[in-house]
Amino acid sequence: MDNETLTITDNRTDQTYTVPISRGTIRAMDLRQIKTGADDFGLMTYDPAFMNTASCQSAITYLDGDKGILRYRGYPIEQLAENCTFLEVAYLLLNGELPTEDELGSWNREVLRHTMIHEKLKKVMEGFNYDAHPMGMLMGAVAALSTFYPDARNIFDPASRNEQISRLIGKMPTIAAYAYRHRLGLPYVYPDPELCYTKNYMNMLWKRTEPKYAANPVIAHALEVLFILHADHEQNCSTNTMRAVGSSHADPYATTAAAIAALWGPLHGGANEEVLRMLDEIGKVSEIPGFIAQVKDGKRKLMGFGHRVYKNYDPRARIIKRVAEQVFEVTGRNPKLDIALELEKIALSDEYFIKRKLYPNVDFYSGIIYQAMGFTPDQFTVLFAIPRTVGWLAQWQELLGDADQKIARPRQVYIGQDARDVVPFAQRGKLQTVTA
Ligand code: ACO
Repeated sequence: MDNETLTITDNRTDQTYTVPISRGTIRAMDLRQIKTGADDFGLMTYDPAFMNTASCQSAITYLDGDKGILRYRGYPIEQLAENCTFLEVAYLLLNGELPTEDELGSWNREVLRHTMIHEKLKKVMEGFNYDAHPMGMLMGAVAALSTFYPDARNIFDPASRNEQISRLIGKMPTIAAYAYRHRLGLPYVYPDPELCYTKNYMNMLWKRTEPKYAANPVIAHALEVLFILHADHEQNCSTNTMRAVGSSHADPYATTAAAIAALWGPLHGGANEEVLRMLDEIGKVSEIPGFIAQVKDGKRKLMGFGHRVYKNYDPRARIIKRVAEQVFEVTGRNPKLDIALELEKIALSDEYFIKRKLYPNVDFYSGIIYQAMGFTPDQFTVLFAIPRTVGWLAQWQELLGDADQKIARPRQVYIGQDARDVVPFAQRGKLQTVTA
């Protein structure tokens, strides 16, 4: 409805204000007119962590946390995972519609054309220590890309922007695979443009001396589904970072490197690594009750559980559970699955978790699959970053075309000292000198 309004009475002044409501929101700037006097700045909202603030309008991903619904551009995630390839979904997220056969053909060629990286970037990666964390390598290498492609700063030139988007999506698996092999001391494998996106990634990860790498189709399909599930998730922490940094008009490589940094944190994408460490620590099913007791005492967190938006089962976790069974038929069952299933069963029947609406999120099962595929836990978040790059770029592109957006610059509520004069150094007490 267009003519919905909110009437606010300021009890400090007895003045009444009417502000429009649009799509269930009021504009925070409409509160600025609410003042106690001419020199009053005007009313602001205080919302640490954006608990109840929409920072943008977006047409990309729809998420209903209470009902457990996730859709990209209107299509349910379950249907996309069942029927599409990752690059089809990437096209959808970036362009708004699923590609026709011709469009998909040229999009595939465009992305795979960009999978090679500059030999000097390879050298940058070789410079990392042998035990460098793969997320640190990924973040550093992506930031370094901006030095190779200075034209990326032309962010308002659509042709340049499209070039950087396909370049970045093409290069992510290559950089990720090099970070993987660097850790193992293996020579880097060049991309094979005859392979599809996921099979090429597997080729760069696991090819040894065979002339042509033959990817296992079940594992390739599982990766494809996992990539689709991770491709976008509206205004999560790393996407918000992408938009905040992008709003300063930094180039897409620097901006994506910042989003990678945000993803790395254990409360966000880094949780999949933490889940495995937690399952390792629990060790066996009989230790679960003791662990749950520690969580309920507030001493621990059940990693891979809980979500800011989902207050119902995360639909991605449901699909991942099915994929896990398919992968285990090839790799053998990961014994951690039994601990995870039991942990989930106990948690979902426990009052502590029910009351707080804590359910498994996407990270709870993904690590178990990745480990069965042969990845070490420190690689898990990299496997999240590759597909999420598509979502970041789709959101970045949307941001740049949104006339409502400006540089992201929140306000603060200042709670520090009032104005005071600097005491000359010689007159400050001894204690102050020591602490200074
Ligand atoms: N284990 C135990 N208790 C939890 C957990 C958890 N994983 N998550 C939340 N809670 C509790 C909190 O202690 C709090 O309890 P209280 O009301 O008694 O204080 C209550 O549930 C609400 O939690 P908040 O921290 O306020 O929820 P918020 O929305 O801020 O945090 C988050 C969401 C960060 C995902 C949180 O649930 C968490 O830390 N989970 C573990 C890390 C994780 O799995 N992150 C991945 C998220 S998905 C993703 O980013 C891809």
